[in-house]
Amino acid sequence: MMTATMMLVSRVRRLGCVLAFCFLALFLWGLPGARALDNGLAMTPTMGWLHWERFMCNVNCQEEPDSCISEKLFLQIAEIMASDGWKDVGYEYLCIDDCWMAPERDSEGRLQADPKRFPGGIRRLANYVHSKGLKLGIYADVGNKTCAGFPGSFGYYDIDAKTFADWGVDLLKFDGCYCDSINHLADGYKHMSLALNRTGRSIVYSCEWPLYMWPIFKPNYTEIREYCNHWRNFADVYDSWQSIRSILDWTTSNQERIVPVAGPGGWNDPDMLVIGNFGLSRDQQITQMALWAIMAAPLLMSNDLRHISLEAKALLQDKDVIAINQDPLGKQGYRLRKEDNFEVWERPLSNLAWAVAMVNLQEIGGPRSYTISVTSLGQGLACNPDCLITQLLPVKRKLGFYEWTSSLKTQINPTGTVLLRLERAS
Ligand SMILES: *[C@@H]1O[C@H](CO)[C@@H](O)[C@H](O)[C@H]1NC(C)=O
Ligand SMILES: *[C@@H]1O[C@H](CO)[C@@H](O)[C@H](O)[C@H]1NC(C)=O
Ligand SMILES: *[C@@H]1O[C@H](CO)[C@@H](O)[C@H](O)[C@H]1NC(C)=O
Repeated sequence: MMTATMMLVSRVRRLGCVLAFCFLALFLWGLPGARALDNGLAMTPTMGWLHWERFMCNVNCQEEPDSCISEKLFLQIAEIMASDGWKDVGYEYLCIDDCWMAPERDSEGRLQADPKRFPGGIRRLANYVHSKGLKLGIYADVGNKTCAGFPGSFGYYDIDAKTFADWGVDLLKFDGCYCDSINHLADGYKHMSLALNRTGRSIVYSCEWPLYMWPIFKPNYTEIREYCNHWRNFADVYDSWQSIRSILDWTTSNQERIVPVAGPGGWNDPDMLVIGNFGLSRDQQITQMALWAIMAAPLLMSNDLRHISLEAKALLQDKDVIAINQDPLGKQGYRLRKEDNFEVWERPLSNLAWAVAMVNLQEIGGPRSYTISVTSLGQGLACNPDCLITQLLPVKRKLGFYEWTSSLKTQINPTGTVLLRLERAS
């Protein structure tokens, strides 16, 4: 005999699998994005470390020898990435940002590292980084100068690509300052992509093309994906909750445009992880880690790995959360709903699993409870007919078996996030 609930379950289940619905779901979020840059790299989001947010353009090695942009900093961070578990969980690319260059090119028009701060030169640094089993990233600019005023690559794209390849560089972050027209911007980003390809060396190409394009007109992401492995869309991350929130808000406002285009070989880049610094509370660090995993974002930390709390280290090295970020299906997640100052985000994973993040955006009061019916998750498929739910953040805990009609109750701290993984039970 069927109970009323069973009838409802079986009716909804049938409804949930009507072809049209499945097709719509696939169409909205499942179509393979545009063709990716064909260099075989960044099949999952790039992981590593990038100096900018924490160390910026500190060139004063006299007074601040430990935090100026110098080979000493990169040698020390390389050593720690290899010895302290960072490389083992996937953080592989050690990346230099702006301010590594000498103020002038050499007599043959090649970029050169500042001789005082990088006495061994970039090639030797790359050799050391490679000897640690890591890869080296470098920075240049599509325009006439870098953002901090060092030599730009305009007019030198081929020479610079060859120089980087000769040095053994593995990633290029290509900025967009000092570029006087949208045509120069687009042509420059494309030209450098082709120039890197012609070197024959595998070099991840990290662009800021859409970021500099947005103020003028809407970027064509199909085109950008053909040339770049990841691309910055929005302003630089700062070490503050306001900055993290503004990045999340920008992402949700533009998700119809940017989510479908992400996939193996090409990713939206919401900028660095600032976990382990000064500006975010414990809950806010959890929110950044969880949402960067949902967004399939490159995980480029900018912090001081020589001085980092055990708590921040454990969060950044959380294998379950990293597994969501690096999921081989390679589909970016999106915000499913916003109500009463809560946001629910979800991301489809391989093997029909889903990741779900629930954020409490209210900045007053204490933990608030939020109840969600599992029917609404994963386009009606995540818990159909049932699922196993594991909470990954703020602490790992098995929540157990849920049926299609169940609801799930959580408690979320202000500005904090509860991150879940939903898996097929049967
Ligand atoms: C260069 O592009 C071609 C064709 O798109 C691709 O097959 C090749 O692997 C690329 N080489 C490098 C080094 O990226
Ligand atoms: C670089 O400067 C030259 C000379 O002023 C100018 O003609 C050119 O358009 C500039 N290029 C870019 C990308 O701004
Ligand atoms: C965007 O770029 C793609 C690939 O280059 C091109 O086929 C398409 O027509 C462009 N779309 C628009 C709206 O310009």
